[in-house]
Amino acid sequence: MKKNGPELAEARRIEYLPGISTSTLGGLMSNLHILDHPLIQSKLTHLRNVETPNHNFRLLLEELTAFMVYEITRNYALREVEVETPLERTVGKILDVPVVLVPILRAGTGMLHGVLNLVPTAKVGHIGIYRDPKTLQPVEYYAKLPPELPEAQVILVDPMLATGGSAVAAVDIIKKRGGRKVQFLCLVAAPEGVETFSRAHPSVPIYAAALDRQLNEHGYILPGLGDAGDRIFGT
Ligand code: PRP
Ligand code: URA
Repeated sequence: MKKNGPELAEARRIEYLPGISTSTLGGLMSNLHILDHPLIQSKLTHLRNVETPNHNFRLLLEELTAFMVYEITRNYALREVEVETPLERTVGKILDVPVVLVPILRAGTGMLHGVLNLVPTAKVGHIGIYRDPKTLQPVEYYAKLPPELPEAQVILVDPMLATGGSAVAAVDIIKKRGGRKVQFLCLVAAPEGVETFSRAHPSVPIYAAALDRQLNEHGYILPGLGDAGDRIFGT
C-alpha cells in the first residue's frame, strides 16, 4: 500500500478538519467529497465519543446517514407525473431512477434505515465482508443483490473506509453483477483507504463526513470512532 504520495501528505497536512474542500487535494483524493453540514459534523463528534452508549450510537448513526443521503441524492433525475390534489389535477415530480442500497455487513446495516427513511422505495442488497484481523485483507462471505442492479443508482454504505480493501471488494462484486452507477457513502475515511479505493474505482465517488489522519498498526482509523460494528451492536 502506497502511503507517501503527495496526495496523502496533503491529506495529512489538512488532517481531519471538517468542511475541507477536497478539490484542493486533487489527484487520487479528488473523488472524495466531505459533507460538512453542521448537523452531520456535530453528530459525528458524538459518534466519536467513547462515552456514547450503543443505543445512542445506533440512533445517531441513523440520523447522520439520513442527512448525508439528503446531500448525495441532490442530483438524482426526476420525471413529471400527474397528481390529483383535493382541488385539481396538477403535475408533480418523482424520482426517475431505481435506487439500490447495499450495506456491507455488519456495520453497514447501521446505516440502512437512515437511507430507507428518506428513500423508502429503495431495494436492498447485502454484501458480507469482514477484514481478516492479521492480514487486514477483505474476506467475502455473502452477496445477494436485487435484479434492478444494472439500471439502478447504487448506494454502497459502510461507516469506515480504512485500508479500503472491503469497499474495493464490495464494488468489485457490484460491478461483476452488472451495477454501473455507484456512490460509496461512509462516515470516516482514512487517506490510505481513499487512495486505494480511488485507484481501483476512479469513477465511484466517495462521500464521507470526515477525512481522518491515518491508520494505526492494526489498521484502525485515527482518531476514528473505534470498531464501528462493535459500537453499533455492543460486541
Ligand atoms: C469494518 C468496517 C469496514 C471495514 C473497513 O468491518 O465496517 O467494512 O472494517 O476496513 P478496510 O477499509 O480496512 O477494509 P469489519 O471487518 O470490522 O467487519 P464487521 O462489520 O463484521 O465488524
Ligand atoms: N474498521 C472499523 O470498524 N474501524 C476502523 O477504525 C477501521 C476499520
